[in-house]
Amino acid sequence: MSMGKCKKKRKESKWRRWNSKDRSAFNHILGDLTKDPTVLSMKQYMQHGTTSTYEHCVSVARVSYKLDRLLHTECDKKALLRGAMLHDLYLYDWHDPTSHDKLHGYHHADKALSNAKTHFNIDRKEQDIIYSHMWPLNLTRIPKRREAWVVCMADKYVSIRETLHRRG
Ligand SMILES: [Fe+2]
Ligand SMILES: [Fe+2]
Repeated sequence: MSMGKCKKKRKESKWRRWNSKDRSAFNHILGDLTKDPTVLSMKQYMQHGTTSTYEHCVSVARVSYKLDRLLHTECDKKALLRGAMLHDLYLYDWHDPTSHDKLHGYHHADKALSNAKTHFNIDRKEQDIIYSHMWPLNLTRIPKRREAWVVCMADKYVSIRETLHRRG
């Protein structure tokens, strides 16, 4: 095997890796939050295709964790994962036009942030993650810290993956 192929294989396996240590770190930080009734209520709303908003948020948290490891961004893991898990806590069916009064794409980050503040004690980093996750659609909300950048990128990746999977 050539050196290039070998390096590529190592990178891929680092990206794909999800071992018991990763699982326990992930569950240690997010365990209680993923079982909270308000967070669980995201299971009743569809995000993309057959993926619920809850599943979408778990995927974004997991991809954020992996991206942080791959890019060596050394994020605050607690803020990263909690922000990712709550980033779409808008709590309505965006496919139903009567469920919300403003354009979903532009305004759901505000609703998610408001709900997250109401139901959870979220810190400044977690607030920033939720507030800026829709950049560049929300053009002026440029992520201001590494945790917000990582979740913003993870959200795009997961959303594209879910949308393509639906059509695949
Ligand atoms: Fe969103
Ligand atoms: Fe999202």
